[in-house]
Amino acid sequence: MASLASVLGLFVLILSIFIATSAGNFYQDFGITWGDGRAKILNNGELLTLSLDKASGSGFQSNNEYLFGKIDMQLKLVPGNSAGTVTAYYLSSKGSNWDEIDFEFLGNLSGDPYILHTNVFSQGKGNREQQFYLWFDPTADFHTYSILWNPQRIVFSVDGTPIREFKNKESMGVPFPKNQPMRIYSSLWNADDWATRGGLVKTDWSQAPFTASYRNFNANACVWSSGSSSCSSNSASSSASGNNAWLSEELDSTSQQRLQWVQKNYMIYNYCSDTKRFPQGLPTECNMS
Ligand SMILES: *[C@@H]1O[C@H](CO)[C@@H](O)[C@H](O)[C@H]1NC(C)=O
Repeated sequence: MASLASVLGLFVLILSIFIATSAGNFYQDFGITWGDGRAKILNNGELLTLSLDKASGSGFQSNNEYLFGKIDMQLKLVPGNSAGTVTAYYLSSKGSNWDEIDFEFLGNLSGDPYILHTNVFSQGKGNREQQFYLWFDPTADFHTYSILWNPQRIVFSVDGTPIREFKNKESMGVPFPKNQPMRIYSSLWNADDWATRGGLVKTDWSQAPFTASYRNFNANACVWSSGSSSCSSNSASSSASGNNAWLSEELDSTSQQRLQWVQKNYMIYNYCSDTKRFPQGLPTECNMS
């Protein structure tokens, strides 16, 4: 009996090591897509860096496609003078009626604040920007940027604090991303025609190469494979039965208060308040939250 128990124990140990490491390995979960050596996977797959110089930026994408998920990634953004650079981290499907859920980090001069730009596309239509300052320096350390995407809502979070919620308002005729599987993409590129103070501040190439870093990817998600999706958790701590709670997760009252705190104190642009841009009337989803 003792030996059976110890064999089982060893098996469980090996399994848990396998599950734990599968939660964050860039070799396993991602592929570098462009940048001719400017994107690098380091530390046995625990760290990924993107870089940008005058000749090129770089990027990567997930191997899996997902249809719903709760996806976390830690990013440390380009430090110092990052004006003109954009670090994009997003989910997107393919084709002309694509869906997309975007985080974009717009760089700035040393000491001036980054802008976190967000957008949601459904069936090829975006124009749903919200922009924020952050309550910390996103270049000093890694911070966790999360997308909860389930059939009822999309929630953008930063270090566990929700900053934006896009609810499913299909009943009011607003398309919601729910049929097209999406991949995770990220890239670091030059956008000095618009990124910093609307394009006034240009990239200072004497500061190149610019580098952004990624670690601790975790996805509780439904993975799409040959026409169907299977939902599971690759997080070592969740039990087999309780691990798909994110599929119906909603914001509790504490989370709603934190969302309001961010929106009140850090939001700098909201398409839902931009009556100049929508003289015919604000988009339908704006009129009912
Ligand atoms: C950069 O800093 C300026 C000055 O503080 C600010 O107006 C702007 O919103 C900041 N961010 C970007 C991306 O331009």
